[in-house]
Amino acid sequence: MDTIVRKKTISTSTPSSNLVLALLFTFLLQTIIRVECSNLNYTKYRKVSSLRLERIQRHLDKINKPPVLTIESEDGDLIDCVHKRKQPALDHPLLKNHKIQKMPTMMPKGMNINVESLDRSSKSGGDAWQMWHQNGTRCPKGTVPIRRSTVHDVLRAKSLYEYGKKQRRSPLLFRRIEPPDVVNNGNGHEHAIAFTEAGEELYGAKATINVWDPTIEVVNEFSLSQIWILSGSFDGSDLNSIEAGWQVSPELYGDSRPRLFTYWTSDTYQATGCYNLLCAGFVQINSKIAIGASISPLSSYNAKQYDITILIWKDPQVGNWWMRFGDGSLIGYWPVELFTHLADRATMVQWGGEVVNSRANGQHTSTQMGSGRFADDGFGKSSYFRNLEIVDMDNSLTSATNIVTLAENKNCYNIKSFYNNRWGTHFYYGGPGNNPQCR
Ligand SMILES: *[C@@H]1O[C@H](CO)[C@@H](O)[C@H](O)[C@H]1NC(C)=O
Repeated sequence: MDTIVRKKTISTSTPSSNLVLALLFTFLLQTIIRVECSNLNYTKYRKVSSLRLERIQRHLDKINKPPVLTIESEDGDLIDCVHKRKQPALDHPLLKNHKIQKMPTMMPKGMNINVESLDRSSKSGGDAWQMWHQNGTRCPKGTVPIRRSTVHDVLRAKSLYEYGKKQRRSPLLFRRIEPPDVVNNGNGHEHAIAFTEAGEELYGAKATINVWDPTIEVVNEFSLSQIWILSGSFDGSDLNSIEAGWQVSPELYGDSRPRLFTYWTSDTYQATGCYNLLCAGFVQINSKIAIGASISPLSSYNAKQYDITILIWKDPQVGNWWMRFGDGSLIGYWPVELFTHLADRATMVQWGGEVVNSRANGQHTSTQMGSGRFADDGFGKSSYFRNLEIVDMDNSLTSATNIVTLAENKNCYNIKSFYNNRWGTHFYYGGPGNNPQCR
């Protein structure tokens, strides 16, 4: 009786202390947040101030748009179906009056337009697909599926500012210094890549990429396999880059599943750009493919292989950079307004793998690239990129014949390229990271 009265007194006669109590209560509730990564030996308890949580929530309210429908995926993702006109891209100051382009004016020569079809047939075992489709529910017409960001996603990032951003790559990579000089290049990014000869005029690139689930030793490392479309100076602050492929990034997604991703920057990974739809930029038109969602099924050792096909090219009339997935699904585009050099054309395309080696415990970590096997093991064992193609000045897709390969430390990860009729220009790449020759 006594307590009830006291409670009543607090709640009715002193609204300010009521507020204080409420704040204190939420503070206590939210002070200890459990940040957990399944499949990784990473369970961390972090103290988070309510002020920081408020800031994070404000940011999330900005990037998570009100959904028409939300679909729950088996992997824990929430996929929000957001009205096309409400998607994050249109918050960009340069896209205030942007009219969404429904279709590219032209495909690269010799290709068909088919917005929503999914061709699962593929010589090597079928296109990989997305886990949230298993729910059975689809996004309604006029909406686009967007992976919802959570407080935990942001808390795993180094800061709110860095959430969704990529650390700058080593500029040394681009100067083509031979391996001994490039080893230990400072920020721990390591590559096994193929790239076009400098100075070409390029308007797009295509490849079919084998999908695996490489293990990541440390939570803030990642392993990715992607296409880069580049222009600008590699060691300056004006590098324009458009990137897409699959990545495993425990920091970004909270798990170790490979996910379809995109990235863009117009200032060498500094203030502009981000992964997926985590900032205003990429305009999505597809209602079936969620960028940032996990891919399933995956390739396994000496068994069925799965791959994804990605084509990125510049609409020759409008100038937007379009992305197509599989054999016919248009995903969306990077509006020409986002870029400086890429508003004109690309000067280099790269294909391959990138990992971060944080040298935890003073050694090269055992974070894998590709399948975790070296290129030498070949089909069914090491990961591949096949049918490497570029889009030329004529808007024609042609086989990428003049490529150079590079791996900073071949004892950790390597790459071997080949050519044949069926797979055109292709390569195997990857590696285990830490091993007796890679410490
Ligand atoms: C699909 O998503 C809906 C909406 O979030 C959820 O209620 C349902 O349980 C999910 N179904 C399956 C089979 O996962």
